[in-house]
Amino acid sequence: MRAVAGGSRGRPFRVGEVLASGIPLACDWRSRSIARVKILTVVGARPNFMKAAPLVHCLRERGHEAVLIHTGQHYDANMSKVFFDDLGMPEPDEYLGVGSGSHAEQTSRVMVEMEKVYLDRRPDMVVVVGDVNSTVACSLTASKLWIPVSHVEAGLRSRDRRMPEEINRLVTDCIADHLFTPSRDGDENLLAEGVPAEKIHFVGNIMIDSLVTHLDRASQSDACERIGVTPGGYGVVTLHRPSNVDEPKVMHGIVSALAEISNSLPLVFPCHPRTRAKLEDDSRALLDSAAIHMVEPLGYLDFLRLTSQSALVVTDSGGLQEETTYLKIPCVTTRENTERPVTVTQGTNTIVGTDPERILAAAKRGLEQGVGRGDVPEYWDGQTAGRIVDVFDRL
Ligand code: UD1
Repeated sequence: MRAVAGGSRGRPFRVGEVLASGIPLACDWRSRSIARVKILTVVGARPNFMKAAPLVHCLRERGHEAVLIHTGQHYDANMSKVFFDDLGMPEPDEYLGVGSGSHAEQTSRVMVEMEKVYLDRRPDMVVVVGDVNSTVACSLTASKLWIPVSHVEAGLRSRDRRMPEEINRLVTDCIADHLFTPSRDGDENLLAEGVPAEKIHFVGNIMIDSLVTHLDRASQSDACERIGVTPGGYGVVTLHRPSNVDEPKVMHGIVSALAEISNSLPLVFPCHPRTRAKLEDDSRALLDSAAIHMVEPLGYLDFLRLTSQSALVVTDSGGLQEETTYLKIPCVTTRENTERPVTVTQGTNTIVGTDPERILAAAKRGLEQGVGRGDVPEYWDGQTAGRIVDVFDRL
């Protein structure tokens, strides 16, 4: 990638130029050296870390100036720091500490803080990953300063706008300059929305880069022994979507299905802080009485060890649908839809919603079929970060 004269929108910026918003543009893009460009990558929440780590490593290996900013959307040590350690990520250059809040509070706090970061650091490119509130906030802010935005994991659509992440995906993709898709359906969605083909780059799934890199190290984790389960003889559960955990009746239905599954297969349930806070007494009692190991959120290596040795996963996570497809572990997704359809059509995923009977039936089917079903989708091969940096180098 060459330093940009005029960003992606065609006109050279001038130092001191003032945007319509009244914010002075501090960037003089033309003064940058041609070879070395400053690429600022943003992370905010747990699912961002394993997507950003391979890219930051690859950018630095190829001689780019890679700045890493952590918005602090997730801040507990076991939701954040442990991932930096496990993934060998460099310390963030800045930590903004925005923390929790309503969607508007969290998104706006990230925007205010990121605007200062952009004006101070003047990056040539901003890279955002995934679909969390930090992703949309950082894209929007960069875009209004005319800083080119790259979105990694672009084009995914659940077509369910009640999901906050779907809004984040739509807005981010609409304003991003370079859209890096993990699967061919992403390209199709973007083209159907009118995104010009030259902005779209099918590069594969960057989260699988982290998985491929760390699978061997994860095999040395003693997570199974610590929790007291035998490799191959347990299932893993994660739940944190507001649509599942904020409504006690829905949560209780899922928990009763889990209790039933645990009669034949012990379960391990690393519990997200949102879920723990929302668990009502009757659900908590049911979980305590069943063969369900409730544990704190785990780090990347412990969790990878746990999922890779499991017989079944029940989840409402996006990333876990993909990781189980790669690992060929049956996955039961307690959602009405998925933005990752390739995990169903090619992989090991079954979408069941929240009806306990459907959860049980799918879990039974998954256990009968066993591990090993499904194909690994195209370009889920551990080389995605390299393909992204290849695109940057050609810009
Ligand atoms: C966020 C993402 C979601 C992602 C998930 C992974 C959005 C809209 N959602 O959801 O896409 O799948 O992260 O975890 O961005 N909390 C803590 N400690 C923390 C972080 C959160 O206790 O370190 C608690 C707080 O009570 C907070 C709640 O969890 O209010 C929810 O956190 P938030 O970042 O708003 O959304 P998540 O549910 O984590």
